Amino acid sequence: MKILVIGSGGREHALVWKIRQSPKVRKIFCAPGNAGIASLAECVTIASDDINALAAFAQEKKIDLTVVGPEAPLVAGIVDIFEAKGLKIFGPNKAAAQLEASKAYTKEFLHRRNIPTAVYKIFDDPKSAQEFLDKAQFPLVVKADGLAAGKGVVICKTLDEARQAIDDIMVKKVFKSAGDRVVIEECLEGPEASILAISDGKHFFVLETAQDHKRIFDDDLGPNTGGMGAYSPAPVVTPDMMSKIISRIIEPTIRGMSKEGHPFKGVLYAGLMLTYQGPQVLEFNVRFGDPETEAVLPRLKTDIVDIMMASVDGKLDKLNLKWDSRPCGCVIIASGGYPGNYDVDKPIEGLESAEDPQTVVFHAGTKLKNGGVVTSGGRVLAVTSLGDTMPEAIKRVYKTVDRIKFDRAFFRRDIGHKAVNTKAGK
Ligand code: AMP
Ligand code: GLY
Repeated sequence: MKILVIGSGGREHALVWKIRQSPKVRKIFCAPGNAGIASLAECVTIASDDINALAAFAQEKKIDLTVVGPEAPLVAGIVDIFEAKGLKIFGPNKAAAQLEASKAYTKEFLHRRNIPTAVYKIFDDPKSAQEFLDKAQFPLVVKADGLAAGKGVVICKTLDEARQAIDDIMVKKVFKSAGDRVVIEECLEGPEASILAISDGKHFFVLETAQDHKRIFDDDLGPNTGGMGAYSPAPVVTPDMMSKIISRIIEPTIRGMSKEGHPFKGVLYAGLMLTYQGPQVLEFNVRFGDPETEAVLPRLKTDIVDIMMASVDGKLDKLNLKWDSRPCGCVIIASGGYPGNYDVDKPIEGLESAEDPQTVVFHAGTKLKNGGVVTSGGRVLAVTSLGDTMPEAIKRVYKTVDRIKFDRAFFRRDIGHKAVNTKAGK
């Protein structure tokens, strides 16, 4: 088979690495890829959101399966374009990708289907949003409706903060048209968890759990990032909690999308708050998480190409997923300044230092320059290790992290600490 993977981050390197392990695969292309992906796949210089050029490429190269990493091409309708040309592609179509593209759509869907989520109101103009605030209770959460690269959510402790958030999003348009509408919702409390499911529109599998670390600094301090590390499994999701998540959230979402004429194919990523009343939906993404994918795929034993083809063909009920019981930890090495402005073009040393077979250095923001590997993004590398226990996996991963050097490299020291300090991490 010939496979095309779309994207250029650590998630896509992990996908390419896993796809490479399939005996069915003869050739992998990645658009646009990065320096690490280049050792496993042929990188092609087509941007991940140039969906017409990607379709033309897939047709010309007779690609058997295309795998989409980021949300932007899915939301733009890449699946619809490929399907119209008779090309197989793993992911949701434009209508189903609304679950990530519009928070207002998602809230109304959840409400219609009786799926637990924070109480909310939707506003199309700043005046009525501001008027609502006059009588509101705090804290509350203001969310831009559309895609805002993970930055469109503001937790407001005071009226002033909420007024400012509405003004920034709807009047100053800091997220452009993503802020044409806002959702204002109740602030929920509890530990957070992300659950990833793969669906074929009808049947689904839940993947092994993983916990992201969203804040830039240790102890969950500082601004939010795309994710500074992850570990799998996440002990916070107990078997009892998982069965509630499946019966109250994942199953009714897959069934509801199908009943409403938009069957969901691909990866459904549910961002959840585990409140004392049970799990509630914070958001959906319609793709693999990054860095959750880097921590989960090394544990997957089943051929990922079989899973993706079964999703595309509506045959997921014919499969059983097999997992490695060993835990996995992943630490992101970022470039100084991230998540704000960061340096690029810094030569990276020590990449060959991951000598043990249980460690993989996935590349996120890297490129080849003058024969060497240099930084090209905020999140630069995703170092990942398996271990017989979570403490062993974490120790192993930091051994490699400490050997990799570039100017102003930065990483969190506490990835996995929460999992290590619980029974399930033993
Ligand atoms: P989202 O992009 O909707 O997942 O929101 C980003 C982050 O904002 C989440 O990971 C939560 O930490 C926080 N958040 C979102 N919605 C709520 C809510 N209703 N209550 C409390 N925190 C929230
Ligand atoms: N790690 C968070 C995300 O992929 O959205």
